[in-house]
Amino acid sequence: MSGTLVARGLGKAFGDLVVLDGIDLEAQAGQVLAVLGPSGCGKSTLLRVLAGFEPPTSGEVLLDGRPVSGPSPQRGMVAQAGGLFPWLPLRENLSFGPAASGRPAAEVREVVDELLSATGLDGFADALPKQLSGGMRQRASIAQVLANRPPVLLLDEPFGALDAQTRLRMHEWLLELLAERPTTTLLVTHDVEEALLLGDRLCLLSNRPATVVDTQPVPFGTGRGRAVLADPAFVQMKAAVLERVLAA
Ligand SMILES: Nc1ncnc2c1ncn2[C@@H]1O[C@H](COP(=O)(O)OP(=O)(O)OP(=O)(O)O)[C@@H](O)[C@H]1O
Ligand SMILES: [Mg+2]
Repeated sequence: MSGTLVARGLGKAFGDLVVLDGIDLEAQAGQVLAVLGPSGCGKSTLLRVLAGFEPPTSGEVLLDGRPVSGPSPQRGMVAQAGGLFPWLPLRENLSFGPAASGRPAAEVREVVDELLSATGLDGFADALPKQLSGGMRQRASIAQVLANRPPVLLLDEPFGALDAQTRLRMHEWLLELLAERPTTTLLVTHDVEEALLLGDRLCLLSNRPATVVDTQPVPFGTGRGRAVLADPAFVQMKAAVLERVLAA
C-alpha cells in the first residue's frame, strides 16, 4: 500500500522565530499518526509544511520515498477552521476538487454521493455551509478533502471547536470512515484522549520550537470505540501521556 509520509530533520523559522526544530516522523501507509503537542508549539505550521503550503527552512518531506515540494491533492489538508467554500452548496463543495482534476461528471457524482452518505449528510447536498451544524461542517470538510482520494490526509485539530459529546461521536465516525477506506492520516491535536482514541501511533512534540520528544505505538487495536475510554490501560496511558505533555 502506498502513502507513507516521512519528515526528515524538518526545520521551520519565521525570521528569528524558530518554530520547528529537526522534526523526524513517519506516518505509515494506511495508519493514523496522532501528533500531540501543547498549544502554540508549531502543530499547524508542521502540517502546513507537510502539505507543501510552506517551504521548510531545513530538512525534507518524502511521500513514498519521493521528495515533495508544493501543495498537491495527494496530501489533502483539513485546516483548523475547515475549508468549505461558504457560497457553494455542499454538493458543489465536494465536487470542486475531483471536477477540477478533470474526472468525468458521472464519476464525480458517484464519489460525492458516496461521501455524502458516509458522512450522514445525504439530506444536505443543497445546503450552504452556514446551514449546517458545527459537527456537520467538520464532517463535510473532511469529505471535501477525501473526494480527491488523497493517499495522505492531514487533519489539524478537526474537532477542536465541538462540544465533548459531539466530539466523541465524530471520533467514532472517523474511526469507521478510515476503517472503510484506509488512508494515511496525520492528526494534529492537543487533546490526549483524542490522540489515544484515534491514533495507531503517537508522536509527542515539545513546546516551541517543536521537537519530537517521543514516538510510541498506541496499543488499543483497531475497531475501537468509546468503550475503550473505560479500559484501565487506556486511563493509565492517558494520565501518563498527559504528564509528559505538561512536562514537554
Ligand atoms: N506565517 C507565520 N509568520 C510568522 N509566525 C508564524 C506564522 N505561522 C505561525 N507562526 C508562529 O509560529 C508559532 C506556532 O504557531 P502554530 O499555529 O503552528 O501553533 P499551533 O501548535 O498550531 O497552535 P494552536 O495549538 O494554538 O493551534 C506561533 O508562535 C505563531 O505565532
Ligand atoms: Mg494550530
